[in-house]
Amino acid sequence: MARKIVLTSGKGGVGKTSILASLGICLANRGKNVLMIDGDVGLNNLDVVMGMESRVVYDMSDVIENKCHINQALLQEEGSSLYLLPSAHAYDNQKITAQAFKEMIGRIEHLFDFILIDCPAGIDAGFHRAVSCSDEAIVVTTPHIPAIRDGDKVLGLLRSYKLNSISLVINRVRGDFVSRGKMMSASEIARILRTPLIGAVPEDDAVTVYSQLGRIGLNRSSSRDAIDMIASNIINNSFRIYDVERGYRGFFGRLKRIVSRY
Ligand SMILES: Nc1ncnc2c1ncn2[C@@H]1O[C@H](COP(=O)(O)OP(=O)(O)OP(=O)(O)O)[C@@H](O)[C@H]1O
Ligand SMILES: [Mg+2]
Repeated sequence: MARKIVLTSGKGGVGKTSILASLGICLANRGKNVLMIDGDVGLNNLDVVMGMESRVVYDMSDVIENKCHINQALLQEEGSSLYLLPSAHAYDNQKITAQAFKEMIGRIEHLFDFILIDCPAGIDAGFHRAVSCSDEAIVVTTPHIPAIRDGDKVLGLLRSYKLNSISLVINRVRGDFVSRGKMMSASEIARILRTPLIGAVPEDDAVTVYSQLGRIGLNRSSSRDAIDMIASNIINNSFRIYDVERGYRGFFGRLKRIVSRY
C-alpha cells in the first residue's frame, strides 16, 4: 500500500508544487512507483509545472463523477514510473468532498509506493480534504517570518489529525545570507517550530525558469540535489540535510560572499 504524503503550508507561494514535482521525479528515479495528485482543486498548477497540461483529457472531477475510469485520467511521465492525477479544472467543492477524494485514492493506492498530494495553501476545506486522506505531512515554509508564523499555525492543526509523521522542509534558503547571519538557518527554524527537519532547499533561479517552462524535470541544479536528499530521507527514514552554505565557506566562498554583499 502506498505511503500517502501531503505537502502543505500556511502561506501560499512557498514552493509546495515545485518541490512536490521534483520530489516525485527523484522518488521515481530511485525506482519507486509514484503518483502525484494535484489537490489544489480548480487551480491546476502541477500539470503546468510538469509540462503535462496539454495532455489532460480527464481530471479528478471526471473520476469522482464516474465519467471515466481512474486509469484514463492518469498521465504518465514518459519512460518513468511517475504519474499525475490532474486537479479538477472547475472548482466545485460540493463534488470533491474529503470522502470522495479518499475513496478515489483508495481505488489506486495499491498500485503505488508513494502518493504525493499537493495541498492548497491555507487551512480551509481543501486543506482538510488533502490531509484527511494522508498518512504523513510535510510542511513547507520559507525562512521568512510570515511564512514561518503561518507554518506554525498549520503544524498546530496537523497535530489534530491521525498522521504517522509530520516533518518540515525549508525552501528558498540563501546560503550566503545564512552564513552572514542575515537569515535564520533551516535547523534554527525547525527548532522554533519543534518539528523534525527533512530538507533544506536553496534559493535557485533554475526552479523559477524550468517551472515556468513546464520543464521542471530538466532542472539539474542545487535545488534538485537538495530535493533528492529529501527523497532519500523519505525512503530511508533518515534526516540528512543539504548544506546550503557549502558554496560560501573557505577562501572562494568568502570572495563570493563579499561580491554578493549589499
Ligand atoms: N527553491 C526555489 N528557488 C527559487 N524559486 C522558487 C523555489 N521554489 C519555488 N520557487 C518559485 O516560487 C514560486 C511559487 O512556487 P510554487 O508555485 O511551487 O509555490 P506553492 O506553495 O505551490 O504556491 P501556492 O500556495 O500558490 O500553490 C514559483 O514561481 C516557483 O518557481
Ligand atoms: Mg501550489
